[in-house]
Amino acid sequence: MQNKSVYLNGAYVPLNEAKISVLDRGFLFGDGIYEVIPVYNGQLFHFQQHMERMELSLAGIRLANPHDRVQWLNIIMPFLDSGQDQSVYVQITRGAAEKRDHAFPKNIAPTVFVMCSEVLPYEGKYTGIRAISVDDSRWGLCNIKAITLLANILLRQTAIDQGCAEAILVKDGYVTEGAASNVFAVIDGIVVTPPKGNDILPGITRDVIVKIAQEHGIPCTEEVISLDALAIASEIWITSSMRELVPVVELDYRPIADGKPGPVFQMLDQLFQNYKQSLV
Ligand SMILES: Cc1ncc(COP(=O)(O)O)c(C=O)c1O
Repeated sequence: MQNKSVYLNGAYVPLNEAKISVLDRGFLFGDGIYEVIPVYNGQLFHFQQHMERMELSLAGIRLANPHDRVQWLNIIMPFLDSGQDQSVYVQITRGAAEKRDHAFPKNIAPTVFVMCSEVLPYEGKYTGIRAISVDDSRWGLCNIKAITLLANILLRQTAIDQGCAEAILVKDGYVTEGAASNVFAVIDGIVVTPPKGNDILPGITRDVIVKIAQEHGIPCTEEVISLDALAIASEIWITSSMRELVPVVELDYRPIADGKPGPVFQMLDQLFQNYKQSLV
């Protein structure tokens, strides 16, 4: 593991030799963005959508994209391997300036980092996970995939400390998303997920599920979900690139329906797996 290569600022180097300056603004301020792209059978999943979101994140922090999409693809390609599922992590920070100052420094090069890891199937996918609702304490630009993840970390840890795998975040009585996932529920027989906006990360997996549901005639809508409505939903699941779809079988110490992954989840998960297969 220690000898795997990573990409840093134009070169592939062994992980334990990859070094950045302590003056890097990613290190000092969390001034950067990232992206995570799944790889199935050596193929990047929804590469263009991930690039589009990364471009929006960069625009959101007013940082020029150091590469075009073809260059990004060329940087990432050497990591791809058709064995195990993988994840490609891309991080861009504003770079290292001579002086620690909040204002954007002039004439510095961004720091570009890419690494790739193997991904094993997530256990909770089969059993379902427990979740708790927590007040969403994050900032107002959650649509940017910023590396500044301290709030998400604290929220996730709050869940873990209570024997749960995910925190479902609630703002003014309405569900936003998970600490590192989007949220879906089945309410009155309809699949519902909160609408896009500054309160949530526009998840690529989320978009795929909404599209699959629509294409298969499964009623699905992008609407606000109150915590009260979530508490009596017949099914809940979360989505993310790394965990795909994961059923939530217990919320705030109460089982969801019979406490087992529900039929709509099972159906959409199967359709998602079929969709993945169709692309590779
Ligand atoms: C806060 C947050 N919301 C949603 C998601 C899901 O996004 P995606 O499906 O693109 O991985 C993530 C992924 O890590 C996340 O961190």
